[in-house]
Amino acid sequence: MTDERIGGAGAARIAAFAAAEAAVYAAARPRSRAALEAGAGAFLDGVPMHWMRDWPQPFPMLVARAEGAVIEDLDGHVIDDFCLGDTGSMFGHSPAPVARAIHAQADRGLTTMLPSEAALEAGRRLCEVFGPMRWQIATTATDANRFALRLARAVTGRPKVLVFNGCYHGTVDDTMVRLEGGRTVARPGLVGQVEDLTQVATVAEFNDLASVEVALAAGDVAAILTEPVLTNSCMVLPAPGFHAGLRDLATRHGALLIIDETHTISSGRGGYSRVHGLMPDIFVTGKCVAGGMPTAIWGVTEPVARRFAAYDATRPAGHSGMGTTLSANPMQVACLVATLSEVMTAENYARMEAGAARLSAGLTKAIARVGAPWHVVRVGARVEFICAPGPLLNGTQAEAAHAPALEAAIHQGLLNRGCLIAPFHNMMLISPATTEAQIDRLVEAFGAVLGLLFET
Ligand SMILES: Cc1ncc(COP(=O)(O)O)c(C=O)c1O
Repeated sequence: MTDERIGGAGAARIAAFAAAEAAVYAAARPRSRAALEAGAGAFLDGVPMHWMRDWPQPFPMLVARAEGAVIEDLDGHVIDDFCLGDTGSMFGHSPAPVARAIHAQADRGLTTMLPSEAALEAGRRLCEVFGPMRWQIATTATDANRFALRLARAVTGRPKVLVFNGCYHGTVDDTMVRLEGGRTVARPGLVGQVEDLTQVATVAEFNDLASVEVALAAGDVAAILTEPVLTNSCMVLPAPGFHAGLRDLATRHGALLIIDETHTISSGRGGYSRVHGLMPDIFVTGKCVAGGMPTAIWGVTEPVARRFAAYDATRPAGHSGMGTTLSANPMQVACLVATLSEVMTAENYARMEAGAARLSAGLTKAIARVGAPWHVVRVGARVEFICAPGPLLNGTQAEAAHAPALEAAIHQGLLNRGCLIAPFHNMMLISPATTEAQIDRLVEAFGAVLGLLFET
């Protein structure tokens, strides 16, 4: 990171700030620390899911309860939550209609591996909210992407998926690739990777239709799998015409277009695709689609459904490689119906959008006040500050824009001032439960942290 990007504050100042903030955090959490010391030994890596170690704090915050847009930790700190489970709780923690659905379903059976009338209602609601597709319910967006890819390979008879540099689509093996010197290579940190991923994947740059065309020209790409906006590094918006070009290239080269809206569901009712008129062959989303109950959905257009039916009729009986036992269970279905009908409403999205616009304006002003060459990006209810000039064009630029030490220090500073933001990027989500007062507190905390980092 150059001094320029941090206004001359310098690495030493960031490190000193981070150390002081980490000490404040630790001193304020004796109960959490003691509980972790007593219980962490039962887990590989000290936590029940290893990502929970990846927050910038010296040790994880133990959550006592979460409600609406607030989290309370074991030490009694009440924190404004803008991470919202990294989108899983984008509509707030335990939205009332979802909580009611859970209570109502609790004594009517949790999992049966059979459909129900409520499942049929979920299908109707999915068509209403996302469009007339043919749907399947999965448990995670990772799974939904895996199944979508299988289907795409089956109907096209082609081996490869085209993804964009810097993408993330869950822990789908085939997408764990990146560009290095213009070549597709496996990501270096993968655990236990034995297959050669370059045989099943190819990488292009986002917003670069020429690189997509080169990759498609070989005729071995079954599907382009992309988010409408690259969200998993520093956020990259699509350039005008990019999505129309992608749609056209996919059609001309016989590849399916899979749009993964697991994060861009922040855009509005029906996701970015519906708001901006994209035309995917396969649509995927997850995380918050059932209000935080582990659920994902994927749908295919009618022509793709017909192609799959023709393929399915010819394949030998036996394992399909798609589906998991607990998927589409009655509890997921109850939460899905409640979310689609009472939570993912136009009114809620309008409220989220207005809050996010307020946050975006506040952060932009705070950045301008200290003269940092940074920018703020927003996709509906999702706001991100990026510690570099913008707009960013592609995954390579997004990776270069990251400033891990600086970002970690800011995250820690914000948490000490009562605001939690997402750990892997600088994402802040506005839920229908988020108040203007919470947004203003975050803007104030951000300004205070920047003041300490930048002002002499
Ligand atoms: C765009 C995108 N797709 C898919 C996933 C996978 O979601 P999950 O971890 O719930 O399987 C993620 C997770 O962050 C994501 O960002």
